[in-house]
Amino acid sequence: MWAEKLGKQLGNPTRSLGGWLVSKLFKVRNQILEENAVQMLEIQPGDTVLELGHGPGLGLQAAAKLLTGPTGHLIGVDYSKYMHQMAAERMKELIASGKVTLHLCDVAGMPLADNTVDKVFHCNCYYFWPDLGKATSEIHRVMKQGGRMVTTMRLSHVATLGAKGVMPGENWRPEAYMAALSDSGFTDIRMDDKQHENTTFQAVFATALK
Ligand SMILES: C[S@@+](CC[C@H](N)C(=O)[O-])C[C@H]1O[C@@H](n2cnc3c(N)ncnc32)[C@H](O)[C@@H]1O
Repeated sequence: MWAEKLGKQLGNPTRSLGGWLVSKLFKVRNQILEENAVQMLEIQPGDTVLELGHGPGLGLQAAAKLLTGPTGHLIGVDYSKYMHQMAAERMKELIASGKVTLHLCDVAGMPLADNTVDKVFHCNCYYFWPDLGKATSEIHRVMKQGGRMVTTMRLSHVATLGAKGVMPGENWRPEAYMAALSDSGFTDIRMDDKQHENTTFQAVFATALK
């Protein structure tokens, strides 16, 4: 029961005590994952960059700093209204200037044109996608040929939550995510162990092949 409740808030936080608590947890626990994902993307100043399931927006903030060119553009998508509003408040100046666009939508159906995104990152998000193939096909559709995607996670923590039933089914397993990437047309798919100060985490890389 508690596992299901926690999973619901982690996967789609609502404006409630539970949603507020998980948003605090994201900020304290996941900043390292967000910032390392951004760093590993090797963002260029004029890139179009997309973050999936941005939560409170710490990764958006890190990525926006690197998009200093006039064509540099940052897009965020999250289907939690609470997280969308929290990130929009954090990024309000850059949204007003047109540098950042946030969409309240599902990863599996994004209001973005084909072949328009250079780089994609996401942290702690794919475990909640009910149909991995549908989501990865949609990401592939919006990415340019050769576009790079990075996702970061602490696999040991994710596996613990997965075993307790916090995440539904088996989609939290990196193997399931990587198989969906391969089926959707991604190449050079690999998972590496990474270290940041005292934190060990995993990064899954993929390149969009068109
Ligand atoms: C566990 S939180 C992670 C937030 C942030 N990336 C972090 O690591 O702290 C997962 C986020 O992904 C969003 N999310 C999950 N599935 C989604 C989907 N299918 N489409 C859009 N957003 C989704 C949730 O609303 C939530 O904000």
